[in-house]
Amino acid sequence: MSERTQASVLVVEDEPDLQQLLLESLEADGFAVAQSFDGADARDRIRGFAYDALVVDLRLPDANGMDILDEALTRYPEIKAVVITGVGGVAEAVTAVRRGAIDVMIKPFQLAQLSRTLRAAVEQRTLRQENAALRAKLHDRFRFENIIGRSPAMKDVFSTLELVSPMNSTVLIVGETGTGKELIARTIHHNSPRSEQPFVAFNAAAIPEGLAETELFGHVKGAFTGAVAARSGRFELAHRGTLFIDEVASMSLALQSKLLRALQERQLQRVGESKNVSFDVRIIAATNVDLRKMVKEGTFREDLYYRLNVIPVRLPPLRQRADDLPLLSQHFVQKACESNRVPSRVLGQEVMRVLMAHDWPGNIRQLENAMEFAVAMSAHTTEITPAMLPEDIRHPDRTGVLQPVLIPDEGLNFTAVVSQLERDLILGCLEKTGGNKRQAARLLQLSRTTLIDKLQRLTPPAQTSAA
Ligand SMILES: Nc1ncnc2c1ncn2[C@@H]1O[C@H](COP(=O)(O)OP(=O)(O)OP(=O)(O)O)[C@@H](O)[C@H]1O
Ligand SMILES: [Mg+2]
Repeated sequence: MSERTQASVLVVEDEPDLQQLLLESLEADGFAVAQSFDGADARDRIRGFAYDALVVDLRLPDANGMDILDEALTRYPEIKAVVITGVGGVAEAVTAVRRGAIDVMIKPFQLAQLSRTLRAAVEQRTLRQENAALRAKLHDRFRFENIIGRSPAMKDVFSTLELVSPMNSTVLIVGETGTGKELIARTIHHNSPRSEQPFVAFNAAAIPEGLAETELFGHVKGAFTGAVAARSGRFELAHRGTLFIDEVASMSLALQSKLLRALQERQLQRVGESKNVSFDVRIIAATNVDLRKMVKEGTFREDLYYRLNVIPVRLPPLRQRADDLPLLSQHFVQKACESNRVPSRVLGQEVMRVLMAHDWPGNIRQLENAMEFAVAMSAHTTEITPAMLPEDIRHPDRTGVLQPVLIPDEGLNFTAVVSQLERDLILGCLEKTGGNKRQAARLLQLSRTTLIDKLQRLTPPAQTSAA
């Protein structure tokens, strides 16, 4: 029995001794037991309360147990009813099961077995109800209303979503990291006719190249060393549902060909097998890189690009959605307050100014994390101030001044690159301070003597070809 709620059972039985035994046995098993000794009382109770389970004797002094059963099932189709009867009532008992009782017990029967039967049935029902509630909650999470945004760019996104969600068309979602690609993909699925079917995600960047094919298409037993059992791929798992191919640009050209073939033929071959397997899957792909550029460079198949780019959805970076920033930040503050069960917070004007000035390289995910951080930092007050924001948002210049380093295929000279960076930093600060070494040293958090020392040792600038 689930510990949260005690399941209730109504026992309708005219023999006092059997009533007592049933009461003791069912109570010992955790049921809340109500008793009726005749049909009239049983009817009253059933009308007044939705019991989880019913145990009813077919022969009652003033009524036929079958009518009680019928009344209970009509009012509460989910009620778990067990019928008890003497040996003479076997034929009737069969009828009772046809009408919807879950079991029949012929007297004398084992009390423990009755308990077990009822318990299993009630638990199964609870589980089903919980699943339904979870599904409803999930649907709720992926309602269009939960995607925040009023900026013109987001309005375009919404109108596209409304058009494409009910369809089977392939969607390509393009956007920088953290702009909500996965959220949009799930939202499309949950608003499509496939919503009751699986949403399966495949992240091409997260799966080593050698395993990607079997992950997508599955394999048969013995297909390769270690394939001890057959396994379905993501395509098959997504059958009748949606397959979300994330970071599609990370696929090798070989895998791109296999994907293209599967999409064209609507059939796949498991690794190690030549038989074709049909599937019915809607594809949503996502990328944070420019696939057209990759097509030009020959690293992404053009035909696959056109197959995926049927309906493009472009998610704007947060820095281009200034209109949405107040709404989004308030949304995430509220979300963090709710999930941490703390009183709501307000965002001061000063904070808003800092948020607006930031360029949000990590987009909405970064904003979400920053707001959660701020809520934690504002433990003793209800107003969030700039001091409560993460360091890299308050002082974006102190960190993240460097562009991500590109490592050329042929490698690089560590010492030369580091010296170059040192040189750029020192000369840059001197330029900023009009040559004032004391101020430049302070900007770099160095002592003046260290700065002078470094200045004297600076390597000459890298050779340039300019005359
Ligand atoms: N418009 C929005 N409204 C509310 N929440 C959003 C919105 N867009 C994104 N989010 C939230 O921001 C977070 C990041 O979104 P998501 O994971 O979908 O981004 P992504 O584009 O897939 O990122 P990545 O490229 O890094 O995988 C999630 O928690 C998501 O719920
Ligand atoms: Mg993602």
